[in-house]
Amino acid sequence: MSEQPIPYVNIAAQYAEEREQLLPIIEGVLASGGYVGGDIIEKLEAKLAALCQVKHAVALNSGTDALIFSMRALGIGPGDEVITPPNSFVASTSTIVHVGATPVFADVLPDQNIDPERIAAAITPRTKAIMPVHLTGRIADMDPILDLARQHGLFVIEDAAQSIGSTYRERPAGNLSDAGCFSLHPLKNLNAAGDGGFIATNNDSVAAVARSLRNHGMVDRNTVERFGFVSRMDTLQAAIIDYRLGRLDEITQRRRENAALYRSLLDPRHVFIPPDRQIEFNTYHTFVIQTDRRDALQRHLADQGIGTAIHYPIPIHLQPAAAALGHKRGDFPVTERQAERILTLPVNPSLTVAQIERIAGAVNRFFV
Ligand SMILES: Cc1ncc(COP(=O)(O)O)c(C=O)c1O
Repeated sequence: MSEQPIPYVNIAAQYAEEREQLLPIIEGVLASGGYVGGDIIEKLEAKLAALCQVKHAVALNSGTDALIFSMRALGIGPGDEVITPPNSFVASTSTIVHVGATPVFADVLPDQNIDPERIAAAITPRTKAIMPVHLTGRIADMDPILDLARQHGLFVIEDAAQSIGSTYRERPAGNLSDAGCFSLHPLKNLNAAGDGGFIATNNDSVAAVARSLRNHGMVDRNTVERFGFVSRMDTLQAAIIDYRLGRLDEITQRRRENAALYRSLLDPRHVFIPPDRQIEFNTYHTFVIQTDRRDALQRHLADQGIGTAIHYPIPIHLQPAAAALGHKRGDFPVTERQAERILTLPVNPSLTVAQIERIAGAVNRFFV
């Protein structure tokens, strides 16, 4: 008898666990007739601000708009350079372009996060900000990044889309910069049933500008202070996120247990897994292994019904959309090599111990 497939993600299983509690919440919002704004949003913002230990959380329709609005609010625009890694999801870079600034890439460390020494080498008189990405649920090495920012008078914007609840020296993601930008996309650890995101900030003006930008630039019902957008979080999504926020610790714990089990089972002679640092709390948005035989391993796992993913196979500087930046293969060798070696194994909270043992066993067997 062939074994059941193991999908890379399993959001349907998440819903099956939550259905009984979630349906009455959804019904409550639909029945209330209040679909935009209101108490639910404000209460959620207060909880998100508490989670990130910041003064303000601004609920938005996406992590992408969180990045755009943060940069707009900090006055980043044409003529400015923003330093960011080339191995992220495209939104880290596209948002810099959308505010009219220029993305400047800095290569990454073995753990896939931006390399502070490469940032230092990329700083020019036009640099206005550094945008580290806390990829995979691990926070970038923020101490040297914040030192550089202080020395050069730069803003820091965290792309914290993949790291809700992660900490670095006991400070949570979002609390380590001028603005922390989070995604609540369905694939994230804290997920909406659609798109969502928020900004975490201690900066009153960033919060005020973002609040107005999300709602046509209005500051009250009749005053438009700047031309803005429609980027509010839907009340329905806020209610779903509020419920799931109550489960986040449990979800994170399950992801960390899954990751710990992989670490104990996978043979380090065959796959590289960046070690956890003492100073961090990794929330394992993804569990990434690195091997020269990545493509063959991925096929081997697929043949056994095991779903995997690659985050991300084409570095941003080599995407057609980035042609105008004038990069070529070889410009960011660590990122490029990782793009050929990285493989994301399923780590979602619906996995059982037996499934992880099966996946790890299949990986180990591939190499013998
Ligand atoms: C690193 C990173 N940055 C930005 C984003 C954009 O977030 P969203 O999809 O909510 O716009 C995502 C996720 O999609 C991401 O993973």
